[in-house]
Amino acid sequence: MTNTVIEPFKIKSVEPINFTTREYREKAMREAFYNLFLLKADDVLIDLLTDSGTAAMSSKQWAAIMDGDESYAGSRSFFKFEKVVRDLTGFKFIIPTHQGRAAEKILFTVVGGPGKIIPSNTHFDTTRANVEFSGAEAVDLPVPVALETDRRSDFKGNIDLERLENLIKKVGVANIPLSILTVTNNSVGGQPVSMANIRETRALLNKYGIPLLLDACRFAENAYFIKLREPGYRDKSVREIAVEMFSYADGCTMSAKKDALVNIGGFLALNDSTIAEKARSLLIMTEGFPTYGGLAGRDLDAMAQGLTEVLDEDYLKYRIRSVEYFGDKLEKAGVPVLVPTGGHAVFIDARRFLPHVPPQQYPGQALAVEMYVEGGIRSVEIGSVMFGREVEGKFVSANLELVRLAIPRRVYTQSHVDYAAEVIIEVFKRRDRIPGYKITYEPPYLRHFTAHFEPVVEETAQV
Ligand code: F0G
Repeated sequence: MTNTVIEPFKIKSVEPINFTTREYREKAMREAFYNLFLLKADDVLIDLLTDSGTAAMSSKQWAAIMDGDESYAGSRSFFKFEKVVRDLTGFKFIIPTHQGRAAEKILFTVVGGPGKIIPSNTHFDTTRANVEFSGAEAVDLPVPVALETDRRSDFKGNIDLERLENLIKKVGVANIPLSILTVTNNSVGGQPVSMANIRETRALLNKYGIPLLLDACRFAENAYFIKLREPGYRDKSVREIAVEMFSYADGCTMSAKKDALVNIGGFLALNDSTIAEKARSLLIMTEGFPTYGGLAGRDLDAMAQGLTEVLDEDYLKYRIRSVEYFGDKLEKAGVPVLVPTGGHAVFIDARRFLPHVPPQQYPGQALAVEMYVEGGIRSVEIGSVMFGREVEGKFVSANLELVRLAIPRRVYTQSHVDYAAEVIIEVFKRRDRIPGYKITYEPPYLRHFTAHFEPVVEETAQV
């Protein structure tokens, strides 16, 4: 019996990666103001910044690209894409956008606004920003276990139904235009939402007549976790599970840059004709005509093919296992990782990794900088840089201080992962000597993308 889970593909085209010295990386980091978003990608050896738009497309997707129809209106590629999305989701109105946040912007421009509340298991940062930009309030209601990074639980991505019902009673149905479930729940560690939780959310919202939307960008990974972990789903196909997930929702936003295995693309799908009509009008103003929505025709073809391939169970088995393999390796070496490993990334608990760095000195940022300097690994902080706030002049930290190592789909091999784990373990050995950081510049929204940092140099007492 063999038990090594192998990549279910062979490699047809390769792209070199650049080796640099530690001195070079120290300088690059200084010049990027210690913000990994400001590095040149060519200066990164293994880029685990995001799993978004970084997938390797298949030969069939490249063939579909060639077959794309670039007609302005009524493109053949659109109808192919629309059919694939409709067969999968069952939604009536399929509106292509150039990526997920464009769908969010349009959706919350239509349904958001001052006084409105949008509950979610956890909003992703762009979702939250788009809700807030409309004047509405984004409320995160993760289950309590989601905040315990060292506790294993099968569906840590779930929404807390009791808190959801309390919120509805408190603020009133009229102020909640919809509720949104992010599958998988990226911000709490790429953790899945169970079918039971989706079904019960639906039932609760039905009681009050509130629509449910899915933020579906990692729907296939979520569906595969349901197959692995939820009673009653082992013998169902991942496709059937995904179809059931969508059946409880009234629509979805989708960043196709994740589970549609493409480098750009997204969509908004809805059942409500009034909202869809308004969304289409906005789409024409900001994205493009409704049969291309900010994309080239060929991109729609690639998405249609990607949405089909992603449900291949050999692919999902490899995908989920290879991320877990990375997490297991770090956990065995004592590195405090969030458990169980999520679908698209390994998350390190920076609070436990760097207990001497307080949240106001951004332990996640500190760790991310060190991993780059040590071995050219780029990751992303998901903690107080991303979600921390000043309230009445006082620092309010994020719930968790995480560093995410997101794995691009079908891009890196097992030895890349082995190397990345070695780098992180080296950093772990010298963790006591890693300094905290302070922010020296920040913009008003989504500060993590462009903020500047400086290491905090502790004053040593002069004798
Ligand atoms: N929703 C979730 C759960 C996401 O993870 C993202 C993007 C979006 C919406 C927005 O989609 O990038 O196509 O506009 N997440 C990326 C990440 C950026 O790195 O996790 P987009």
